[in-house]
Amino acid sequence: MNLNTGYNYIPLCFFIGVAHRGVVIFLFEVYVPGTSVIGLQWGDEAKGKIVDLLTERHNVVVRYQGGANAGHTVVFGGKKYKLSLVPSGIFHPTVQCVIAGGVVIDPVQLLSEIDRLAIEGIVIGDKLFISDRAHVIFPWHKLEDRVYDEIGGGEAIGTTMRGIGPCYRDKVGRSQAIRLGELFRDDFKSRVETITESKNKILKAYGCTELPDANQIFDDYTAAANRLKPYCIDTTAYLLNEIDKDTPILFEGAQGALLDVDHGTFPYVTSSNSSGVGIAAGSGVPARFISKMIGVIKAYTTRVGGGPMPTEQDNEVGNKIRENGNEYGTVTKRPRRCGWFDAVAARYTARLSGVDAVAITLLDVLSGIGELKICVAYKIDGHETTDFPSECEKLRRAEPVYITIPGWNEDISQVTDFNKLPNAAKMYVKKIAELLKHPVEIVSVGADRKQTMYV
Ligand code: IMP
Repeated sequence: MNLNTGYNYIPLCFFIGVAHRGVVIFLFEVYVPGTSVIGLQWGDEAKGKIVDLLTERHNVVVRYQGGANAGHTVVFGGKKYKLSLVPSGIFHPTVQCVIAGGVVIDPVQLLSEIDRLAIEGIVIGDKLFISDRAHVIFPWHKLEDRVYDEIGGGEAIGTTMRGIGPCYRDKVGRSQAIRLGELFRDDFKSRVETITESKNKILKAYGCTELPDANQIFDDYTAAANRLKPYCIDTTAYLLNEIDKDTPILFEGAQGALLDVDHGTFPYVTSSNSSGVGIAAGSGVPARFISKMIGVIKAYTTRVGGGPMPTEQDNEVGNKIRENGNEYGTVTKRPRRCGWFDAVAARYTARLSGVDAVAITLLDVLSGIGELKICVAYKIDGHETTDFPSECEKLRRAEPVYITIPGWNEDISQVTDFNKLPNAAKMYVKKIAELLKHPVEIVSVGADRKQTMYV
């Protein structure tokens, strides 16, 4: 296996120093310990499993953007665990998990996730740190999510209704934002009162009848804050200190790069930088400390919510993929839109995120589908291109140009050696590697840790 994660010695620079009688050459090797896992499509690429696999090579696992709009599933020992905010590293007893400042947190929901994990035998103990800089999601954010998506005009974004966008909007707007560290301050009550009053005026104008109550929010959030207090620290300082100690750190991306607010299919995106560019901003760790970037792709494409998806198969093929892959949202249970693998989109996000290697997940889902197609170019307004358009409306007009690859019928979910896959499946994986111009290092054929091949 050539995973090369965690401990990477990268010779970055040579210095030449002059000693008394001659030239002394010093070779400085800089130890770069960061690995990151990024979804290269529209989310739901089974990143949680890949993070879980890589965790044993790292001491710290960091979530740095998004919030409880994410849903990560990890399966081992015959049990299935679902995570939304808690990093997937939590299942490894010696790993420190960090929710960094770029994440938006609903404290009440986070506690219910922590409590649910405890019932399932996963005790958080002192294995979790949460940034005091993380912005807090309040009940008005969830109401705004509903109101704004409904009145948005045109096609709805189809958000997860978790208040993610409105919370990030307030973060950027600043005056009505509250960070986790502020929940412990004396002026928290008066801030909640002021903001609730102002938010309620607007919500009322939009026809909302059930409005948030400041006293209730203060009580609920104070109770939650008191329980979260032991976890709440300056995670930026913590991570920078760990970097100084050369601690191997794993960065766990949420959503997928095509949902990146700046580089994705705007406006049908999430409100954070979910591509590789978001790691530094969300965690406070400079990008040059990420030595290995692993891009995760499904063997096909899915999308939840609105927005263009050129390879969507709103037909029997799409239905078959959805049923084989149980393609229903972990968070919202919505049926996912399913289609062929889009190499134009994945090549774009692999380049954008600076990917070194690729993990392909859910290859087993394609068994028995028949002939398979891969989109290798778009035809837009009569012109063929392999460039991913910056404009969503252009992407809407893109007609996929496909190549066809033979399919396979065998159940491959128990295969653990890449060479033992049916030839057609091997060919499919190799074709994707060729189109993305990156090696495929991991192939996953099921949710369990054991259903994994290292190429
Ligand atoms: P939001 O992040 O809830 O604001 O939703 C914005 C868009 O991103 C919607 O189309 C969601 O369906 C999509 N989205 C958000 N989180 C995820 C995810 O974890 N997986 C897949 N899609 C997501």
